[in-house]
Amino acid sequence: MKEEFENYKVDVGHDVILYLEGITVSFDGFKALNALTLYVRPGELRCIIGPNGAGKTTMMDVITGKTRPDSGTAFFGQNYDLTGLSETEIAQIGIGRKFQKPTVFQEHTVFENLELAMKTYKGVWHSLFTRLTEEQRTRIDEVLHIIGLETRPYDIAGLLSHGQKQWLEIGMLLMQDPLLLLVDEPVAGMTPQEMERTADLLTSLAGKHSVVVVEHDMEFIRSIAKQVTVLHEGSVLAEGSMDEVQNNSEVMEVYLGH
Ligand SMILES: Nc1ncnc2c1ncn2[C@@H]1O[C@H](COP(=O)(O)OP(=O)(O)O)[C@@H](O)[C@H]1O
Ligand SMILES: [Mg+2]
Repeated sequence: MKEEFENYKVDVGHDVILYLEGITVSFDGFKALNALTLYVRPGELRCIIGPNGAGKTTMMDVITGKTRPDSGTAFFGQNYDLTGLSETEIAQIGIGRKFQKPTVFQEHTVFENLELAMKTYKGVWHSLFTRLTEEQRTRIDEVLHIIGLETRPYDIAGLLSHGQKQWLEIGMLLMQDPLLLLVDEPVAGMTPQEMERTADLLTSLAGKHSVVVVEHDMEFIRSIAKQVTVLHEGSVLAEGSMDEVQNNSEVMEVYLGH
């Protein structure tokens, strides 16, 4: 790991942690993102909605360095140009991403999954040859509580419910202490009770972390939403409170037209 990323020194002096400005991404001439401009404040919980193909996942791919924009700028704080960093470096400066499918280590316990997530981050050498410090144990306990699995540290991950696996994966991201968490469709396939707990979990993470949630389920978005951004055809169609965007005539047209 590069030394300069050991302690994230992300400059949020202007009260913005993520700057996306004029981002365009083309696939064979088709613009998946079209001059997308979006700002996220430190500690904010931002919901991103929009019909299929609006560019939501592509936006996350740009932030995490998986896809490079054809034009536009992407900055983390004022000082990290994301388009010039590798995916690994972007993870190391404090951006964590949760994909839709949980990718926990099925045959390991909940506790071991959290332990592995922490150590993987520190490198394989550490994971093979170091023991947990008291501080690390404390952090694992904290995260177990945050994700509501404090009574199940020794359960085998593969036997957890779908919702519990999703929470465990969020916990694994938390072991790396991300400043910004990107979460793509967290409640797909969840029971109503699991959705409710996920809403509480994501809400509790905001403040300490900036959280960007992409989700189709409107009921869920309504339950957590503060600031909502509607994407359509690769650009921002509307932004505001849930009520504001739901009453926006262009937004209604896009959703009804589907
Ligand atoms: N790797 C790719 N190659 C070609 N087209 C792509 C690729 N990734 C995404 N697209 C297209 O870009 C558009 C936006 O996709 P995506 O970002 O996945 O939308 P969303 O997540 O909002 O549903 C879609 O039309 C999709 O087919
Ligand atoms: Mg998507």
